[in-house]
Amino acid sequence: MGGSRSGDLLSIVKASAPGKIILFGEHAVVYNRPALAVPVTQIHVDVEVCDSDSAGIWIHAPVIDLRAELSTLPSDHPIASVILGLLPSPPAPLPLGEGRRGEGGIEIHISSTIPVASGLGSGAAVSVALIRALSSHLQKPLTNEKINELVYETEKLYHGTPSGIDNTVITYNMPVYFIKGQPIVTFQPGKPFTIVIGDTGIPAPTKESVGDVRRLWLRNTNHFEDIFNEIAQISLIARRAIESGKPEWLGELMDHNHALLQQLTVSSPELDKLAAAARDAGALGAKLSGGGRGGNMIALATQASAESVAEALISAGAKRTIITEIK
Ligand code: MEV
Repeated sequence: MGGSRSGDLLSIVKASAPGKIILFGEHAVVYNRPALAVPVTQIHVDVEVCDSDSAGIWIHAPVIDLRAELSTLPSDHPIASVILGLLPSPPAPLPLGEGRRGEGGIEIHISSTIPVASGLGSGAAVSVALIRALSSHLQKPLTNEKINELVYETEKLYHGTPSGIDNTVITYNMPVYFIKGQPIVTFQPGKPFTIVIGDTGIPAPTKESVGDVRRLWLRNTNHFEDIFNEIAQISLIARRAIESGKPEWLGELMDHNHALLQQLTVSSPELDKLAAAARDAGALGAKLSGGGRGGNMIALATQASAESVAEALISAGAKRTIITEIK
């Protein structure tokens, strides 16, 4: 069994990474259109790496029910692949549940308040926090650029064909205007604004919705390209509105973006219901955020209306809400 946390621990290194929301442009961003994303610091992944008196590399991640020694995981397991990519040489396999006392090993504890498969970047946040903690444990700190590159590789294991927006916004922990393959552009709101996030509570792996959109795009390329172009226009206008301190313009843009996401088939009755409830409660606009089909939606509120929008979302079936200030 891995050494207990109360055992002879030699050093503890900690790192965290935030969640994220996509304000505009999800799915179209996979096809090289611009998208806007911001970190959400109220939800985060925390990783602790400790030396242990038991050999082996033990991973404890209760949120995904994982308690395993590294060598027992497949090498394409997203967490194992991050660790294997950072270790100087592959560790010798250990029989399950055993450790050679005296040789020493490490324990990795992963905790998270970001719901899994909900469009809030849980996979990328685990990878970012894990890489930060492990690289400082190994006393080989990495630049954000390198971390972003490594996490992008892991994102492919979760997603198939990720745009790279999740790893970028989470690594840099700043609002980003993202175009796949182009240098990172961050942006600064001219005036803070309030977003209410509503969780349908329905897990929906991004890989599936991204794969479905790809199949539809292959069948009806011109039509889907037109939708992606319209979404690109929305992202461009939204960036201008945010930077010039006119967040109130975003409401209509969100509603329009949501309608285009419906045409991409990635909304769901639950997401539509939450978006309508938010608008009825005074939100200036609402849309799904992330991969869709379940997961989360976002609504533009004012500081004064945020609480009542959040209450309306709960009454309409949201499992939880987060009020976040974008600044
Ligand atoms: C996922 O947060 C956003 C998507 O656009 C996928 C991606 O960009 O990789 C749906």
